[in-house]
Amino acid sequence: MLQQLENLHRECFPHKPWCATDFADLKKSGCDIIASQNGFIVYRVVADEAEIITLGVAPNARRGGIAAAMLEIAAEDAKKRGAKKMFLEVAEDNAPARALYEQSGFANIGVRPKYYDGIDAVMMSRNL
Ligand SMILES: CC(C)(COP(=O)(O)OP(=O)(O)OC[C@H]1O[C@@H](n2cnc3c(N)ncnc32)[C@H](O)[C@@H]1OP(=O)(O)O)[C@@H](O)C(=O)NCCC(=O)NCCS
Repeated sequence: MLQQLENLHRECFPHKPWCATDFADLKKSGCDIIASQNGFIVYRVVADEAEIITLGVAPNARRGGIAAAMLEIAAEDAKKRGAKKMFLEVAEDNAPARALYEQSGFANIGVRPKYYDGIDAVMMSRNL
């Protein structure tokens, strides 16, 4: 599974690929990972807050609702475990991801200037 995640991550983030060890370390640090053949989501629940660490869908499987479905599964799981809010950060110029998050109920709550190699990070949250 970790090798599959590495391959999928490279397809989704060709300029910043993670390796299998990165996913293993995330699991060890308490993150949850949901993955299928074409998509993955990494999130963390701590007390009453949840955070989306990353998510991606293979280019040839996009616009089929996979990311929205994975977000809902993560949100439901976090809610069951006591989280009241879910947070994430997204690059200001990542229009597809920002559209996905807005459609999934997230709203902008702040900006971290020049967070990603000179690109602002938009901080978003939604109630669970
Ligand atoms: C962002 C990403 C995860 C979306 O995955 P997806 O499975 O294609 O998304 P969905 O099909 O679930 O889309 C749900 C909604 O998000 C919005 N959306 C998704 N991709 C979009 C795009 N390219 N342009 C505009 N809106 C988009 C739409 O509102 C869409 O609903 P619709 O198809 O009914 O119009 C995918 O493009 C991806 O892996 N990108 C590279 C990795 C990345 O940037 N991850 C996010 C890091 S924060």
